Amino acid sequence: MKNRWKSPLRVLIMALGGLVFGSGLLQAQGDTQACISKALLTYLECAGEGAGTAALAQKQAGVKAVDLIGQWVLAGAPETDMFEYTSSDNDQHTATFKDDILPLFTQDGVWFEGARSCASCHFANSENAYHEMDLTSYAGIMKGGDVLTKPPGVPLFGQDKIGATNYDWDHSKLRARLRNNRMPPNWPEDLTETNRDGPCVTIGSNGVSVQGSDGVKKHKYGCDLNTVGLIGAWVEAGAPELKSFAYGGQQVNFDRDVLQLFTKPSMWFPASAPCSSCHFANSEVSYHEMDLSTYAGIMKGGDVLSKPPGVPLFGESKIGSTDYDWGHSKMRARLRNNRMPNAVTFDITEENRDGPLVFRGRRLK
Ligand code: HEC
Ligand code: HEC
Repeated sequence: MKNRWKSPLRVLIMALGGLVFGSGLLQAQGDTQACISKALLTYLECAGEGAGTAALAQKQAGVKAVDLIGQWVLAGAPETDMFEYTSSDNDQHTATFKDDILPLFTQDGVWFEGARSCASCHFANSENAYHEMDLTSYAGIMKGGDVLTKPPGVPLFGQDKIGATNYDWDHSKLRARLRNNRMPPNWPEDLTETNRDGPCVTIGSNGVSVQGSDGVKKHKYGCDLNTVGLIGAWVEAGAPELKSFAYGGQQVNFDRDVLQLFTKPSMWFPASAPCSSCHFANSEVSYHEMDLSTYAGIMKGGDVLSKPPGVPLFGESKIGSTDYDWGHSKMRARLRNNRMPNAVTFDITEENRDGPLVFRGRRLK
């Protein structure tokens, strides 16, 4: 139902129509009354064209969960005020934080069947809640993550700092955590912080080797020298193609030491696929139109065709710039951060990136 239909006259007609229709059908009447007990505007959306159950189901067209959260944030993240959102079939609806947003964080089974609620792991600003984050209430969500270790906290909605309202949903932590898979795909589930920086590396006279990549020893995690650290050191040295740079007190270089992390199997966990098996060219058939098989390809970034000249991987302001910012780079985040909720199955299409279709805080079908 489009906005233009929300005239007082139509509200009246629909309300009357709904009542007449409802009186004939017990089930439909129940639904109608449930609808009427809400505000009239909501009733209108609730009851739809002819009221009754069929119309009700039809009106539950739903919206992708991540889109809904985004529309709420862009409306200023109101705590009690209603906000408008557009559902996936382009209808306008109203929603509130309490009924529509909070349940996405506090209920089990919303994001996929059997999914634990966010709040079961992020339940308080205490050390024993993951990321000292509290997703159980409005106040908690607005406080952000790492409330104790990085006070006053790390913003989830892309705002400058906790308390600021310059929300930037597209670049927010929350959106990224809901949409983006850790790379390479199918990392074994990791509940501790120990394997975030990738497996341990040793540096000998033949350069860097990744423990476990030979299939003989087991992969080991939690060392000072590790794969993500190596890539970071290279980026912070200016991402040189030929010049060597220092890591772990040794001189290493891109060609011999860094490139292998993108092009060889078993570099990240047992039998992990080479990055370049999926990201092999700046073509449509290569994921994210990204080429991680060569220096030139890596520097061209992702989405080279759809967002030319490409999306920078190392936090630089644009492709070709050298103002690298490893700490905020796409590459670092993709190597370290799991998609939330944990254990979401790896998804090779773009279809479920924005989560399931939801309506009033519940997953549809
Ligand atoms: C089984 C426990 C678990 C569940 C369930 C869970 N998380 Fe997490 N979450 C974690 C862990 C562990 C980390 C840190 C590890 C990582 O970065 O991948 C984390 C990190 C995060 C972060 C990053 C915080 C920061 O400051 O960087 C966000 C945001 C987040 N989770 C949101 C969510 C949301 C939203 C949900 C539900 C849709 C959810 N989580 C469900 C365990 C969980
Ligand atoms: C099995 C195929 C596969 C492998 C192997 C793989 N990726 Fe990906 N990668 C994907 C898919 C699919 C996406 C898009 C889906 C998503 O965002 O989670 C993606 C997205 C990315 C992105 C985001 C690009 C952007 O513009 O947002 C980066 C960066 C990335 N991968 C890096 C890597 C790295 C580094 C490795 C190896 C350590 C790797 N990938 C291994 C399939 C793969």
